[in-house]
Amino acid sequence: MKRQMLKVDGIREIQHGIYSLTLTGDCSEISAPGQFVNIKLDGFYLRRPISICRFGTGSVTLLFKVVGQGTKALAEVKPGDFLDVLLPLGNGFDITCCKEQPLLVGGGIGVPPLYGLAKALVDTGITPQVIIGFNTADDLILTEEFRALGINPIVTTADGSMGIKGFVTDAMKDLNYDYVYTCGPEPMLKAVYDAAPDGQFSFEARMACGFGACMGCTCETKYGYKRICKDGPVLYKEEIKW
Ligand SMILES: Cc1cc2nc3c(=O)[nH]c(=O)nc-3n(C[C@H](O)[C@H](O)[C@H](O)COP(=O)(O)OP(=O)(O)OC[C@H]3O[C@@H](n4cnc5c(N)ncnc54)[C@H](O)[C@@H]3O)c2cc1C
Ligand code: FES
Repeated sequence: MKRQMLKVDGIREIQHGIYSLTLTGDCSEISAPGQFVNIKLDGFYLRRPISICRFGTGSVTLLFKVVGQGTKALAEVKPGDFLDVLLPLGNGFDITCCKEQPLLVGGGIGVPPLYGLAKALVDTGITPQVIIGFNTADDLILTEEFRALGINPIVTTADGSMGIKGFVTDAMKDLNYDYVYTCGPEPMLKAVYDAAPDGQFSFEARMACGFGACMGCTCETKYGYKRICKDGPVLYKEEIKW
């Protein structure tokens, strides 16, 4: 993990209140999809954690939703600004565990790290099935990007305004799969946990340091306490205590 000043290369509102932010600088230590960055913003004591959506050795793209003052300030950065960023953080998804029929299940703003995962799997010759769920069609993100990877994502919306009306688990019922990778709000993770035979689950927790020092994000697993920021955010189904 390094502290870096990354340059804002571009920022764009891709949906109402959802932004795509590309930063350039040394990103060579990013080793797995599902890792995250922790961004310092002027006037805020705590950094704000955001998952890595897309990465290369010299750039990283993040997708974030404005939910409070910190993400509002982040949405106001301009190309050419520099941001103080800790990266990479967390373990990320392990693609070596992937079986024959992986299924990626994302909900809302939990979809971006699954795009990076899908790309990593496609790069190794595996085309996963993908389900992405949103509240409504106006929240839809990354569908074209998945299609560009050769994946036709199954879309669910809670209000039925796009794709299957219902939740991601409704779409899971019709598919054959043997391993699930998932990221999204906790009630969705729990429903996927109940449906999935095996898999990896990316959790969000309120964080302070973001790199394992403060114990502020600790949760109990079957193998003792783990820090979501350092030992996670990805946990394996067999270790999760629900
Ligand atoms: C590992 C990790 C990866 C994340 N990846 C992304 C991402 O890719 N894109 C994205 O938009 N957001 C992501 N988040 C959530 C993001 O960090 C929070 O939305 C952000 O910190 C909120 O800051 P704020 O100052 O705008 O809001 P605050 O004023 O701090 O909070 C506003 C509202 O958001 C809720 N909130 C704040 N932080 C979190 C959190 N960590 N988890 C759940 N609810 C929270 C608060 O309870 C409150 O209701 C991630 C969080 C973690 C821990
Ligand atoms: S946020 Fe400090 S240990 Fe996880």
